[in-house]
Amino acid sequence: MSAGAARRPPFALALQSQIERRLATHQQRQPLAQRWLDDGRIESEAGPVYDFCSNDYLGLARDPQQAQALASAAQQYGSGAGSAHAVCGHHLQHQRLEADLADWLGRPRAVLFSSGWSAALGTLDALLGRHDLCAQDRLNHACLLDGAKLAGSTLKRYPHADAAAARAILQEHRGRRAMLVSDGVFSMDGDSAPLAELAAVSADEQAWLMVDEAHALGVIGEQGAGSANAAGLRAELVPVLMGTFGKALGGFGAFVAGSELLIDTLINQARPHLFTTALPPAWASCMRAAVERVRFSEALRDALTHRIERFRSRSAGLGLPLMDSASAIQPLILGAQTRALRWEKALLEDGFAVKAIRPPTVPEGSSRLRITLNVRQPMSAIQRLLETLARLLDDDPDAMAERQNAS
Ligand SMILES: Cc1ncc(COP(=O)(O)O)c(C=O)c1O
Repeated sequence: MSAGAARRPPFALALQSQIERRLATHQQRQPLAQRWLDDGRIESEAGPVYDFCSNDYLGLARDPQQAQALASAAQQYGSGAGSAHAVCGHHLQHQRLEADLADWLGRPRAVLFSSGWSAALGTLDALLGRHDLCAQDRLNHACLLDGAKLAGSTLKRYPHADAAAARAILQEHRGRRAMLVSDGVFSMDGDSAPLAELAAVSADEQAWLMVDEAHALGVIGEQGAGSANAAGLRAELVPVLMGTFGKALGGFGAFVAGSELLIDTLINQARPHLFTTALPPAWASCMRAAVERVRFSEALRDALTHRIERFRSRSAGLGLPLMDSASAIQPLILGAQTRALRWEKALLEDGFAVKAIRPPTVPEGSSRLRITLNVRQPMSAIQRLLETLARLLDDDPDAMAERQNAS
């Protein structure tokens, strides 16, 4: 070290103090290794527990038919793509999956990505530049917010589901190219974006609308085609449609669907598509089977809808502070992290895996249980979960204090 040079601050010390800060504020995460049991439950330290936390809404991630589709595709196509799409990794199965997706969603074309995260980053970075504007719902998924930042665009977040506020932002920045970006169904709140209104705003303001259908695909809309479809929006009104395989389709990976012009641009300019190994062709083949299944299986969607309706109608009478959501994501707001963690633990001990969602994933003071419904849950388990939640509410010291203050 030259004389007088400042000492470089050590990494380890900084990381350790960040961990301590997270521990002190109950924000430290520690993933536990899970094992699925044959009956669809999860093996946990408290014994077998029902899954009320995954995004496997239609149960396909653990479906024997889907596992079989993957195994036989692997026999045929091997385990890997061998390179990026642009080199020699673009297999016939990728091409067919992209065509199936385009057909399902009524778009001219689609392009695959390795994950929803890379689809969002790649798309926004390819489309936006530093002179452009990106208006986003404040509760959009982190990958959409990060995509706009990565692109160097001006990111403006409007209050949740407030189309008038989105319009005001776009009007304030007339003369700049702009995108309006929203989740279709919000991942932590479970409610739907006002897509018809957002589409009207983006048409009036000549901004491209991008909808992330991660939690809507397979579940909402005709043939499960998502929330833009459910809102009756023509393809031209939603030029950028993103979907993921990691939720109702029971796999992983993602895609963007749209015009020839859009997809050609992404194939050439979306860096997480260009410079990464393509999904295994066997995987693409398996996802083709999942698309076919989800698209034409109304019975699966009906089974999910039945569970959502049962859960909501029975919870209404129990006074549970559920958010207003018609989707498979049913958040129960508890406020403080400690309270959400206490309920998570009590539920686990009673046989239910439900996750406490805390800041920074959700805003400070809005920690919650993110209860998710899926078709593998027996109705009796849903009923028992509701009874347990009602009991926790009755016994909860914070709820008692709230009741006393109110009386
Ligand atoms: C709304 C939304 N978009 C995108 C993603 C990212 O998708 P993936 O898990 O495929 O990276 C998620 C993941 O949870 C999500 O909830």
